Amino acid sequence: MKIYNIAIIGAGASGLMFASLLKRKSEVCLIDKNLEIGAKIKISGGGRCNITNQNIFASNYLGDRDFIRPILNDFKTKELLAFCEERAVFPKIDGKSVKGSYFCRSSNEVTSMFKKDIRGVEQLLGREVKDVTFSDNLFTIKTSQGIIQSKKVIFASGGLSFSNIGASNIAFKIAEQFGHKVETLSPALVGFTVQKDQFWFKNLSGLSIKARAKTEGKNLLGDILFTHKGCSGPLILNSSLYWKKGQILLDFLPNNGLEKLLVGKGKISTTIPLPKKFISEFLKSISLKDKNIDSLSKIELEKLQLIKNYPFSPAGNFGYSKAEVTKGGISTDEIDVKTMESKIQKNLYFLGESLNVTGELGGYNFHFAFASAKRCLKELRI
Ligand code: FDA
Repeated sequence: MKIYNIAIIGAGASGLMFASLLKRKSEVCLIDKNLEIGAKIKISGGGRCNITNQNIFASNYLGDRDFIRPILNDFKTKELLAFCEERAVFPKIDGKSVKGSYFCRSSNEVTSMFKKDIRGVEQLLGREVKDVTFSDNLFTIKTSQGIIQSKKVIFASGGLSFSNIGASNIAFKIAEQFGHKVETLSPALVGFTVQKDQFWFKNLSGLSIKARAKTEGKNLLGDILFTHKGCSGPLILNSSLYWKKGQILLDFLPNNGLEKLLVGKGKISTTIPLPKKFISEFLKSISLKDKNIDSLSKIELEKLQLIKNYPFSPAGNFGYSKAEVTKGGISTDEIDVKTMESKIQKNLYFLGESLNVTGELGGYNFHFAFASAKRCLKELRI
């Protein structure tokens, strides 16, 4: 049986970057469940792949910042952009999206770029990895189409989100088998379902407004999109990363102080600069009539203050089928930050989303996946 030097499990962001940067590609195989590489890249960023961000800091991630920082420092935004530009892909900042987000013209140009770059690596596509064991200095990888043996194994198989395009729990299962701790997994960068008090959100389905959210010490600004199930949009997706349980405080008027607005004799709906439909549903939810501002009682004015401090306790979230990422993952305590190698099992490596590192919306997750691949490769010196 052929023995590979390196088996990369997962032809997604981190696996492709790793295979792409490899100088010697012979004796290397890239295994993926899908028949095509980069399934998630293809559907990312609304088909335009939000590949990175102008401002990448460890503080944009959940996880151990001391672990994350050196990995990011090793592969800064400008280096990733240079990598793309050398391959005739020119990401540009999109001012309409999350601040500093770099988008490509199309996600297909990213997968095509990698397709060219990984020539020489043996691609074993359409194979699902079921198990990985180690004995006699070799890893045995059991797949849906037979056994593969390799000296080194790089897990680049991501998290649990979007199982319809290949996601599986394989990295977590194997990590645990080798004695690694896996921090609690949950869907993140995902919309929230709502409790009875916020059923009014559903009546606004399709409407998006700028708002601020305060949760777990984070103060986030962005668009909230009301949906038939609850709420979503960049602000909510980012809130889902940090929210644990309890209340999120929403400010539906982030750029205005209420006192300055509440002057004159106009009605609430004509005075407050928000869509009429929103005001109408909001007022109903707090049992306040659309009265003239100068006729509001002290209690009514206090109620209206809720527009800047609205308590919202999500019922749950839309689940892994809608979540962009998986929060939690393989504990980084047992991963060597210089190499991404397991401190428990030699020659076993973990990259990208499988680790307990989760980034905000805005290109942060691709960036970490790429940077972890670069870090691993640099230290392996191959
Ligand atoms: P990734 O998920 O990229 O790759 C894992 C690969 O392993 C997959 O190809 C999968 O098929 C394969 N695999 C899994 N289990 C296997 C098994 N048992 N056997 C064989 N193969 C297996 N991020 C960002 O920064 N900007 C963006 O624009 C977006 N947009 C976006 C949209 C949507 C809809 C989603 C779901 C996610 C995003 N993301 C994103 C998140 C981003 O896609 C994600 O964090 C990275 O792709 C993670 O890279 P990895 O290499 O870790 O896994």
